[in-house]
Amino acid sequence: MEAHVDEQEIRLIINRHYSNCDGLIAVLEEIQTSYGYLPESALRMVADITGRSMVDIYGVATFYRSFSLQPRGRHHICVCMGTACHVRGGPMVAEALERQLGIKAGETTVDGEFTLETVNCLGACALGPIVVADGVYHSKVDAAAAKKLVENLEAEQEQPESEPAAAVSSL
Ligand code: FES
Repeated sequence: MEAHVDEQEIRLIINRHYSNCDGLIAVLEEIQTSYGYLPESALRMVADITGRSMVDIYGVATFYRSFSLQPRGRHHICVCMGTACHVRGGPMVAEALERQLGIKAGETTVDGEFTLETVNCLGACALGPIVVADGVYHSKVDAAAAKKLVENLEAEQEQPESEPAAAVSSL
């Protein structure tokens, strides 16, 4: 179900970032921060208010991997499948995460807790396989470390007052 989008909030975001046809990326970034993704109704409001076409807006929204047109889980895990990470075992890490979470890459768990995605190269090839979990980079991740990573994130949500789980290995 699509998130309820507040038109007043969208207007404020546009006023903050948009002028003379410039600032669309910043507008979309703030909408995604607010809603966790880019709801279609929000994109329609941006089109109406700025006079940009939906084609234009979807062009930007689909060009950058950081934007999502679907609701994402509370935790976001991204496995690098670029060449260097691939040869170091990236696919095995992705498969281990798919098995553990019960979803395929690109999907979100039914409880809305985890979204799993893949990406092509995060620019840290020598340290691969790289996994980014909730914005934290983890290097040289194998299947066991990936499993532990998910367990740590699950433990965090069970104990919201506790310290964040330690990274397996951060850059
Ligand atoms: S291939 Fe994974 S960081 Fe470059």
